[in-house]
Amino acid sequence: MTPILYRATFMHTPRNAFQDADALRVQEDGGLLVDGGTIVESGNFSSLRAMHPAARVTELRGGVLLPGFIDTHVHFPQVRIIGGLGRPLLDWLEHVTLPEEARLQDNVYARAVARDFLHGLRCNGTTTALVFGSHFKGAMEVFFEEAAGSGLRTVAGQVVSDRMLRPELHTTPERAYTEGRALIERWHGVGRARYAVTPRFSLSASEGVLDACAALMNDFPDVHFTSHINENVAEVQTVQGLFPGSLDYLDTYERAGLMGRRGVLAHSVHTTDRELGQMAAHRCSAAHCPCSNSALGSGLFPLKRHLNAGVHVALGTDVGGGTGFSMLKEGLQAYFMQQLQADAGVPLSPTHLLYLATRAGAEALDLHDQLGDFSVGKAFDAVWLCPPEGSTLDAILNHASSPSETLAALFANGTQADVAQVWVGGDEVYARSGNTASHQPGKQPPVLAS
Ligand code: GUN
Ligand code: ZN
Repeated sequence: MTPILYRATFMHTPRNAFQDADALRVQEDGGLLVDGGTIVESGNFSSLRAMHPAARVTELRGGVLLPGFIDTHVHFPQVRIIGGLGRPLLDWLEHVTLPEEARLQDNVYARAVARDFLHGLRCNGTTTALVFGSHFKGAMEVFFEEAAGSGLRTVAGQVVSDRMLRPELHTTPERAYTEGRALIERWHGVGRARYAVTPRFSLSASEGVLDACAALMNDFPDVHFTSHINENVAEVQTVQGLFPGSLDYLDTYERAGLMGRRGVLAHSVHTTDRELGQMAAHRCSAAHCPCSNSALGSGLFPLKRHLNAGVHVALGTDVGGGTGFSMLKEGLQAYFMQQLQADAGVPLSPTHLLYLATRAGAEALDLHDQLGDFSVGKAFDAVWLCPPEGSTLDAILNHASSPSETLAALFANGTQADVAQVWVGGDEVYARSGNTASHQPGKQPPVLAS
């Protein structure tokens, strides 16, 4: 196949922005040469053009090309209940979420929800997601089928629980193992799908179910693990009561042997110093979900304590506790919530936000050798943000005087409406109708000179 040379102003963070103050890479009027879905060369457009006269050129003039967003915590069955405001976690689960999740027993309904969900991801520029699934195996089969058709990268798993939800959502340790095993054998590593062993949280998963999860991870060592931790004070107290022999919330997962490099724990708002030390030792990650933490009143995420302890942090929308699929909005909310913590907060720069929304997610999923930035050898997973002409964001970008200003404006003002085109592994998975690259031939890139 003929290689494609994408011409765009692009930005990415090939390094950890919390460890390297100079992590942002910017290429004005850049070129990314993509062959078979992989970036094979990167640099200045005209030099690449001269070196590869046979390459097909795709002009992405105007706006900015970013690596596809990576959402490390998002619930597939909850897309239709986004916006259930005004309740704390346990009340919200009982009255808003679990009744909807029970409806996914019907595979026809589950398929329609899966389509809504996957569309929500891709039209917001998310190319990879760690997806909290359904309690029903049938709904997970349907989900993986639809995900394969969508072209997105998903790391997803059947959610398992055996208490305190509602009877139709409960399983047994034996079923948790056999259904999980069948799903892993069918879907893990097939196309762009991967599997994550997913007990809902220790509140709803007995030691028997946690042990069944550990057995799956033992039998399939390269699958991922995800769950919730320390989100809400009442939840933490309930877990303490259910596991009187455990040191803390993390210990309930540790004792079962569930923690490791491919573990992602969502929320981690009320986490103790012991837990942070252990999370760092396991090299697992925290998925920070600031919109959800605000909407459900869960609390202020202690980012500084996580970073000081050496815990890796990525970003998740937590749809439907969160307020939508936009990783731009999520990044902005992360920024807000750190600003509100005075000395305890981490002042997040636009570079931090880009890193959190992209490369940090790839690192959390242990996929950073393949995804997360535009380095040569990585998959061409990308989102072209190009605001409609005449929009406020268009006006701001046209007057931005540095890459940092441009990036800040994208996070402060960008929405789904600004997502013009999205690729995964070089395949287009979304194009805004009537407004793709070829429709904006005369549009100039924003000024990026510092
Ligand atoms: N804890 C257990 N289940 C859930 C859920 O669906 N959403 C959130 N935010 N927290 C949870
Ligand atoms: Zn969640």
